[in-house]
Amino acid sequence: MPSASRSSSFASRARATCATLVVVCARVAPGARGSRGVRGDGVTSAFERPPAAAVLALGIDARAAHERALLDDDGDDGDVPSQVHLTPTGIGEITVTWATRARVARDATVAYERVNDDDRGTNGAKKATVTSDSYTAQICFGSGTLFAPRMGQTPSVDPMKVVELANTSAWAATDAVNYRVVRAIEDVIPAGFFASAPYDKGVCLDYNNPDAQYHSPLIHKATLRNLIGGSRVAYTLPGSATSRTFTVPTVPTRHSSHHQSWTFTRIAVVGDTGQTEVTKEVLTHVAETLSDAQVLIHTGDLAYADGFAPRWDSFGRLMEFLTSKIPMLSVVGNHDVSVNGLESTAYAMRYPSPSVSSKSPSQLFWSYEFGHAHVIGLNSYANPNVGLFDGADAPQMSWLLDDLASINREYTPWIIAVFHVPWYNSNRGHFKEAERARIALEQVLYDAGVDVVLNGHVHAYERSKPVFNYAEDACGPVHIVVGDGGNYEGPYGEGWIEPQPGFSAFREGSFGAGSLLIHNDTHATWEWRRTTCVANTTASNSYFERSGDASTCRTIPDVSAQAMEPVDIAILRRDVGACPNKRVGNAERSNEASGYNADGASSHVTTLVITSIVLLALWVVTSVMLVRTLRVLKYSRAYRSPSLLANSDEYDDEFAGDGAIGLHTLSSSMGSDKF
Ligand SMILES: [Fe+2]
Repeated sequence: MPSASRSSSFASRARATCATLVVVCARVAPGARGSRGVRGDGVTSAFERPPAAAVLALGIDARAAHERALLDDDGDDGDVPSQVHLTPTGIGEITVTWATRARVARDATVAYERVNDDDRGTNGAKKATVTSDSYTAQICFGSGTLFAPRMGQTPSVDPMKVVELANTSAWAATDAVNYRVVRAIEDVIPAGFFASAPYDKGVCLDYNNPDAQYHSPLIHKATLRNLIGGSRVAYTLPGSATSRTFTVPTVPTRHSSHHQSWTFTRIAVVGDTGQTEVTKEVLTHVAETLSDAQVLIHTGDLAYADGFAPRWDSFGRLMEFLTSKIPMLSVVGNHDVSVNGLESTAYAMRYPSPSVSSKSPSQLFWSYEFGHAHVIGLNSYANPNVGLFDGADAPQMSWLLDDLASINREYTPWIIAVFHVPWYNSNRGHFKEAERARIALEQVLYDAGVDVVLNGHVHAYERSKPVFNYAEDACGPVHIVVGDGGNYEGPYGEGWIEPQPGFSAFREGSFGAGSLLIHNDTHATWEWRRTTCVANTTASNSYFERSGDASTCRTIPDVSAQAMEPVDIAILRRDVGACPNKRVGNAERSNEASGYNADGASSHVTTLVITSIVLLALWVVTSVMLVRTLRVLKYSRAYRSPSLLANSDEYDDEFAGDGAIGLHTLSSSMGSDKF
């Protein structure tokens, strides 16, 4: 957009925002200046203007020590890498993303090498080039929970700091009549604003207020390529004295015939994490009990920044201990695309996807193959022009059909679809919320024999039976809602639909994470384990706290039949005999098509082959030269000594054909004692 029109747009937006009384606007009444500092004759008098307020640090109300740790900005200062996370962006390819406040050197690289490997040894350190970017965002507030945190949500926002940020005329006397002075948070956000309809709305600080602009740290990316599936890789970021390590997701044999030391595929699953005390417990549970997961899948609604941009940074720091070790695939939730598009910018800048390698036209829908699985990520909000919850956008549908046609079930028998808004859940507040998407896409996924659907959005856990069009169907996918990753907006939405619908197999309003363990072509184990229950501690239900030990606790007022269950385990079986759709998928795709060249696999083998050929050739040449030399010497000595010449008949014929000694002659001589 041209700058002129952009300025015009901003100006009109600012006017509109003022009109909606949600943002402070400094107003100068005509002629008002005469009341202070202007003499009656129109000559401006000397007016000692007080210094402007210093740029204010965003207020953070850290309520506990660990919260303060989350909010510590040290990690983003200078050139120390922070918010490190890994994304599988292609076969044998991992993109590492991190943030710093300072620029990295123009020629900075990420060093990486295979470590702790099997008998293939190491293949030497490699370097990946670094690209950097940043963005600015207007500071907005899209949720009342930013000011009224629940479950230790961080960072909470200090209303008085918002007042300071919003007050662009802080130097004016509070009784000045010609300026609007912000004295209280209600002058910025009217009381009850977030509690009244429409609920999906936000307040942004005035665009013309320089204090209201968030400047992101520099966000760096580097792609580590041609990694061996299943191997451990150490990587060192610019500015870091230590290296980090991760395990490369295994590469299906259609992409590499190279042996990989793995026997199963584990996928860890979280959703709707946000950044609360509960989030930290859920992530710790994943790190401690699912550390062998090849990939962490996030089903959307990551940071719950809700317009308050610094929360993307605090979320990155919160996740780093896990996502710098386990590569994460994610899809967008409504909190990742909302608030005037600001969140979609932040998400796109910070969380890449395997869209390029899967030939997707959008970063927001993609596929990725590893182990026994072909994972498809879809965007529940693919086309905002036709409705926020319409996932059947034409480009996505077109790409999805192509992607499904590319699957070969001989190599990746399990098809897993991931998108944010569930089609099957029995929460009163979300039941049938994504019907347009379900109607558009369910038949497509069913025909392709999709085995498992992973969702978030509902802040509870629920697993369906195999289902299609609301009826139990043994050949349909199992739909699993894992929106219980820690963000807290009240106990599991608006409660359960009673009685429990027939498609629903298990539901519970607590917090936890899931694990999909694929054993082989036909069997997998799904396990959800809760980490936290909550109970209200005030009559108004405005704040909840953890309740008891995770093995015995109960979330109040969860009335589901499984409310007391700490674990849900289900054996998933692919019955290809009974379900023809589970056999769909026999596409051809070569290694070349995936662009994969296993670094230590094929190149290691290639190196061995080339080395062997060279050594053999050298040995051949040396041997030939040695034979010729010996014969020349012998011939020469025999020429000088008739006695020797008498014993050299065996060589005469060959020398008769001098220059004709070839491989045949050599090979026939190789077994000779003469050598
Ligand atoms: Fe959501």
